[in-house]
Amino acid sequence: MSDFSQLVPEHIRNLGGYTPGKSSRQAHRESRVNCIKMASNENPFGPSPKAVQAMQAVLGECNLYPDNDCGDLRQKLVERHQVRPEQIVPTAGSTALLGIIARTLLSPGLNAITSERSFIVYPIATQAAGGRLIQVPLRQDSYDLDALAAAVDGNTRIIYLSNPNNPTGTIVTATEVDRFLDNLPAHVVVVLDEAYYDFAQYLAARRSVDYSHALDYVKQGRQVVVLRTFSKAHGLAGVRVGYGIGPPELMSYFARMRTTFSVSGVAQAAAVAALGDEAHTQKALANNADQVPLLMEGMAELGHHVVPTWANFVYCELGEDAATVAKRLQAEGVIVRPLGPWGAPTAIRVTVGTPEQNKIFLKAFRKVMERAVASKQTVET
Ligand SMILES: Cc1ncc(COP(=O)(O)O)c(C=O)c1O
Repeated sequence: MSDFSQLVPEHIRNLGGYTPGKSSRQAHRESRVNCIKMASNENPFGPSPKAVQAMQAVLGECNLYPDNDCGDLRQKLVERHQVRPEQIVPTAGSTALLGIIARTLLSPGLNAITSERSFIVYPIATQAAGGRLIQVPLRQDSYDLDALAAAVDGNTRIIYLSNPNNPTGTIVTATEVDRFLDNLPAHVVVVLDEAYYDFAQYLAARRSVDYSHALDYVKQGRQVVVLRTFSKAHGLAGVRVGYGIGPPELMSYFARMRTTFSVSGVAQAAAVAALGDEAHTQKALANNADQVPLLMEGMAELGHHVVPTWANFVYCELGEDAATVAKRLQAEGVIVRPLGPWGAPTAIRVTVGTPEQNKIFLKAFRKVMERAVASKQTVET
């Protein structure tokens, strides 16, 4: 029998896998209760009915390959963002584009930089491309831009900046990013990952904060690639569609690196229709902005450190083993994300749900955490 490890390069052999948030079905199999999923930052209101209708309308064409150039979708995005078509590359979720960017720009000997406790796909994409990922510490739960800049060397090709950051929910402001970009050398491409852009922009408008100049950088021809996705505010995580916007030449390399026909016709139709259903997106954004304070206060009331969020999830430090707490919450019918894989074994991330879901979560959370305190007191006495 072959020893396959001899055939596979070392950086692939050592690759860690991605652990997704648990599905409601899996949780039901394990705990025998119906569970609300508040673990993967999805839209609790589902997809836009217009997107569902658009998908149904193209199902009969599934015998045909999709439009590899995603022409209609790119045209809609051109109108929305006021950029040129060659500046936009749609992919099967922005995760796919992260892999493409890493494989295009990295190889053994080169490195990428990001923060500790950031999006879990950055290490995977970097290592799969044979590059090395440098992770600098967070400063007050947020990206430390000075530390990122200080880590750049002659072999750096990518900086991943998740803004807002997943899982802490923090942002770096537009002014901070302006200054950061002004001082970067020309051999570094900054990936401004704005998966939660709509939520952050909505909250920023309410809070009178200047959140993002990402598209201005692209229009100015900076070495920046902006990532957006239909998985979050648009409620289309299951059909896999996202896109990048950046300098035409760089985007043309990414376009060539894509897996052919990877964005299905169903996904393209859904994304086009979702862009035309502003009311559905606004409902999710308004609900999120209204519910964030209630969820944060409900968790903080029990004495836990909750990081003020700019996204559709809340990061909470429990001071307890988060995996155990998550299991107990699951038994109460709520799936949250324990953050051990992010190097935060005592923290959870909770997706903001509908008002009813958040009430159910807070009730379960109170019950589980009060039980934890009571059992600690019993041990101490
Ligand atoms: C920061 C960040 N970037 C990108 C993504 C990827 O989204 P998708 O591949 O679904 O477009 C996510 C999803 O959770 C994320 O949190």
